[in-house]
Amino acid sequence: MNSYNVITLFPELIEEWKNTGIINKALKNNLVNIFPINLRDFGIGTYKQVDDAPYGGGPGMVLMPEPLDKAIRSTKSDVNVFLTPSGQQLNENIINNLLEYKSINLVCGRYEGFDQRILEIHSDYEISIGQSVVSGGEIPALYLLEAMIRKIPNVLGNPESLLSETFTDNKIDFPVYTRPEVFRDKKVPEVLLSGNHQKIEEWKKNNLKDI
Ligand SMILES: C[S@@+](CC[C@H](N)C(=O)[O-])C[C@H]1O[C@@H](n2cnc3c(N)ncnc32)[C@H](O)[C@@H]1O
Repeated sequence: MNSYNVITLFPELIEEWKNTGIINKALKNNLVNIFPINLRDFGIGTYKQVDDAPYGGGPGMVLMPEPLDKAIRSTKSDVNVFLTPSGQQLNENIINNLLEYKSINLVCGRYEGFDQRILEIHSDYEISIGQSVVSGGEIPALYLLEAMIRKIPNVLGNPESLLSETFTDNKIDFPVYTRPEVFRDKKVPEVLLSGNHQKIEEWKKNNLKDI
């Protein structure tokens, strides 16, 4: 079973997410394990310090290397994935590669990010979820986890959902419709109501777009 540790200062965010939707179902069906690891538990001294001011000055705080090092070493994961805005842009190929590993540490930054040395020592992948900056690595980690977990066999109710998704074969998925047949004068394409499976399949194929 694939196992994911999320090293974070906000484990409660991960716990909350574990209670929702297909992730919750996958956990209950023992298809995946997700363990939040509280970076604070590895902090230094009485106050469990995890961050300090940057050498050379500048705004914000930097995550210190020691607590991250201890947190990572407390696990037995195959690889360490750091979430960083400057990392490799996430795509379906990276997701498929990461799915090959049985156990992964996802390391979430905060503040001004990671002391560079922890990346040099421990990082196997640095992943960005897009060209904009959010305040912490938790949402990027959850984004990555959700993109991976939905591809694990038996997680989705209907495995066919994965076959024609956007980004598969460099295509954008065809548009989809449900009831009612007419909504504010906008009609569902006639062919989808025709019951003619061959024509419907043709329509779907013709309505895939190139990326
Ligand atoms: C405020 S950001 C740090 C930004 C850093 N000072 C910079 O300019 O690259 C804090 C943390 O959020 C996470 N983060 C923010 N944007 C991200 C993105 N687009 N992809 C992945 N992680 C991101 C990273 O873990 C990062 O260490």
